[in-house]
Amino acid sequence: MGKILITGGAGFIGSNLTEYFLNKGYEVVCLDNFSTGHRHNIEAFLKNPNYKLIEGSICDLETCKEAVENVDYVLHQAALGSVPRSINDPITSNEVNVSGFLNMLVAARDAKVKRFVYAASSSTYGDSASLPKVEEVIGKPLSPYAITKYVNELYADVFSKTYGIECIGLRYFNVFGRRQDPNGTYAAVIPLFVKQLMNHQSPKINGTGDYSRDFTYIDNVIQMNELAMLTDNPEAINTVYNTAVGDRTTLNDLVHYIKKYLSEYDEQISNIEVIHGPNRVGDIPHSLASIEKAQNLLGYNPSHTIENGLKEAITWYWENLK
Ligand SMILES: NC(=O)c1ccc[n+]([C@@H]2O[C@H](COP(=O)([O-])OP(=O)(O)OC[C@H]3O[C@@H](n4cnc5c(N)ncnc54)[C@H](O)[C@@H]3O)[C@@H](O)[C@H]2O)c1
Repeated sequence: MGKILITGGAGFIGSNLTEYFLNKGYEVVCLDNFSTGHRHNIEAFLKNPNYKLIEGSICDLETCKEAVENVDYVLHQAALGSVPRSINDPITSNEVNVSGFLNMLVAARDAKVKRFVYAASSSTYGDSASLPKVEEVIGKPLSPYAITKYVNELYADVFSKTYGIECIGLRYFNVFGRRQDPNGTYAAVIPLFVKQLMNHQSPKINGTGDYSRDFTYIDNVIQMNELAMLTDNPEAINTVYNTAVGDRTTLNDLVHYIKKYLSEYDEQISNIEVIHGPNRVGDIPHSLASIEKAQNLLGYNPSHTIENGLKEAITWYWENLK
């Protein structure tokens, strides 16, 4: 079937991609330094003969070269996520997300991989107020993290034009689902709220709760990675795609759904009140993707709305966190 290198394979998205492609019969190499990923995310794969773990950093070029040996496809997920983390420590975010990305591109180019698919980000839309977001119209970045993700796109574009390596960037919009980490200072909003509500604590919304996001279930992201990896449409390569549902949900509605689905397991959760704090620096009010480009060029068809994605994610958290 082929061999895939998944960088960041011990993280949320990377471990889900690993599970999917191992089940399909691919060989999977994981390169991860466990800075934000977890051993429990990959434990189930370790006994699979088609799985290989390389513990190391994308900041080391030799490690990247070792990882891409005899690899057909790269799904590059390793990065330091989180806007607040990059505001607190822009240098480390830049080292991993920009220099590490460049190392991986160089290694993939030299190994002549068939395709380099990488995790880009909706943060690249920056201060652009237009909705829905279309790939060709971006604003100015609002955080160091957003800069790093935009620089990835610029490097991928230049590498495809200069060296002929086939690259596709997937601008992920607020991904959620099984194995997303609910712990730590930089936890994403959905697992954080689920954990707090399960512990009968009030979740805190930054602002009034009318900000909205195009929350995207992990299975839609897996689908986009597979389509990007395998497309034989020459017009579909060397570009970027919104990876989203094409629908937006306010923070207030999000909490409503989470409470509704958690209450099926513990009815007391329906009475927990939300608290509100100030808006966060660097947060844009609304985010909504146009998914037309992915539909037209890749044949993308999201399998999960936010509601049915949340229902599945909450079942997973209930079974695994309780
Ligand atoms: N989750 C989202 O909503 C979202 C949105 C937009 C973009 N993204 C991007 O998707 C990718 C995956 O994100 P995630 O949510 O799975 O995050 P995650 O933190 O769960 O996974 C990232 C993985 O990369 C690994 N990693 C970090 N630095 C590394 C290094 N120097 N060398 C090797 N491995 C390293 C971590 O240990 C972790 O396993 C990232 O590139 C992120 O920027 C995620």
